[in-house]
Amino acid sequence: MKKDFISMKDLSIDEINELFELTRKIKKNPLDFKSTLSNKSVVLIFEKPSNRTRVSFEVGIWQLGGQSIYLGQGEINLGVREAIKDVAKTLSRYCAAIVLRTFSHKILQEMAEFATIPVINGLTDLSHPCQALSDIYTLTEKFSSLDNKTIAYIGDGNNVCNSLIYICAKMGINLNIATPKRFEPENNVVAETKNLSIISKANIQLFYSPQEAVKNVDVIYTDVWASMGKEREAAKRKKIFKNFQINSQLLAGASRNCLIMHCLPAHRGQEITDEVLDSKNSIVFDQAENRLHVQKAILIKLLKGK
Ligand code: CP
Ligand code: NVA
Repeated sequence: MKKDFISMKDLSIDEINELFELTRKIKKNPLDFKSTLSNKSVVLIFEKPSNRTRVSFEVGIWQLGGQSIYLGQGEINLGVREAIKDVAKTLSRYCAAIVLRTFSHKILQEMAEFATIPVINGLTDLSHPCQALSDIYTLTEKFSSLDNKTIAYIGDGNNVCNSLIYICAKMGINLNIATPKRFEPENNVVAETKNLSIISKANIQLFYSPQEAVKNVDVIYTDVWASMGKEREAAKRKKIFKNFQINSQLLAGASRNCLIMHCLPAHRGQEITDEVLDSKNSIVFDQAENRLHVQKAILIKLLKGK
């Protein structure tokens, strides 16, 4: 049976660890994997803009000896020019996998339901699992163990936050989430991960005070205040989120060595200051680089079952 990667829910803890192991090998010896996708085409359907996700997938597919086909906004016009299921069934006759970046998570689920090839989530309004997987992989490179480590996620309880909740709950990583009221992460995600975090002993807590949330943490993570699709709310959100900026004042109340993460793109001067983003503790470009290595591992696992 084909396997998709549309949510962190799709991966068991063992599968996550196997993916990280494979990522380490790919990163160390990329040429060992240069023909893994030969004669295979992967189609990227992107209904939102992208730098990292598009380029890291396209470069990764090329490095694995495969071909990528990019279909941007308006090209395929999902559900308008053609029903999603017809797109899924057609592309399944040509390609080996579909990477989809879209708005509603339902669109992605429908694509996965009707495609007979693996479907990978390239970001939806609900989640961004490739990002969360790469982020935690990045932390495995920074710390000898993730036991008893705590991440503080400060800002909007959005797609990136939801996927971080899943992976932290699975892997036993503590997560302090500070958002303004009414911008908390998805209720369903919090409820669904309760049992997981009991099993893994992850302490996942919601805060309304960024100062409280960053106390004694090992990592501080943030993302834009207005995600793609919410641009019209940007001015309103700028006011609501103004006390949630990652700046030197907030860091003064955190551990001196805590690492700084951001999935990027960053809105410098809004959710994070230049000073913090460019500081020596910032690992944002390591995160961005690891998208490439981790996604190559995902493609190999889904397409080769390795
Ligand atoms: N972090 C991330 O997914 O970046 P892009 O939107 O540029 O792909
Ligand atoms: N939350 C952001 C993430 C971008 C990678 C968005 O959805 O726009």
